[in-house]
Amino acid sequence: MKIYIVPQEQIGKLGGELIARQLQAKPDSVLGLATGSTPIPFYKEWISLVKQGKISFARARSFNLDEYVGLPGGHPQSYRTFMRENLLDHIDLPASASDIPNGQAKDLEAECRRYDKALEDIGGIDWQLLGIGHNGHIGFNEPGPSLTAGTHVVELAEETREANSRFFASIDEVPTQAITVGMGTILKARQIVLVAQGESKAGIVAEALTGPVTTELPASFLQLHGSVTVVLDEAAASKLP
Ligand code: F6R
Repeated sequence: MKIYIVPQEQIGKLGGELIARQLQAKPDSVLGLATGSTPIPFYKEWISLVKQGKISFARARSFNLDEYVGLPGGHPQSYRTFMRENLLDHIDLPASASDIPNGQAKDLEAECRRYDKALEDIGGIDWQLLGIGHNGHIGFNEPGPSLTAGTHVVELAEETREANSRFFASIDEVPTQAITVGMGTILKARQIVLVAQGESKAGIVAEALTGPVTTELPASFLQLHGSVTVVLDEAAASKLP
């Protein structure tokens, strides 16, 4: 595991270097992408690098980690909208090359199987970007007595709904369910980049990276993966031993 600890304002630049390296090595990379506050500095830098002609996503593919269940199409907080606004509308990745679970599907089980098959057909994820929840979730794989390998519908933990209520008018509007890729999909990614920023993540980051591997802290399973890069600002790194 390689850990970079950088000042907050340099997170984006490092994110640019990491994706540039990946796209240079494999222009047709399959990228696993995340939403939330964490990847925003990465995405801003990627947009800037594309505009400067320094990187291109023209041959890449992307698969998002997760999507809320039941938000109407075009809802400002759907992850599909988030991805369009914060990345996809501003880079040269063809529209047909990005996939995200459909949280409005009538048959959610069938949608999960479709997503798994698409991931399998393409040969899995080359480069997976992850944030971490305050409870240690990755994607929406929430802590519990067991974890699921494939794409599945999950009941969001109360702390996840509370954390994400900052984007909604009230907690009552935060969906109770989401579709998420499973732990198997994440751990099969050839490279994983975990990013965390801010003091509020310091405790869970230290536990995830150095504590016991347990289903009660899904991110702890990253300790078992052979190719993980961790990008932390100084605050998020402040509780590492
Ligand atoms: C988002 C995702 C989540 C977030 C995590 C951290 O697609 O899969 O695991 O990465 O909840 O969220 P932020 O970055 O908003 O603190």
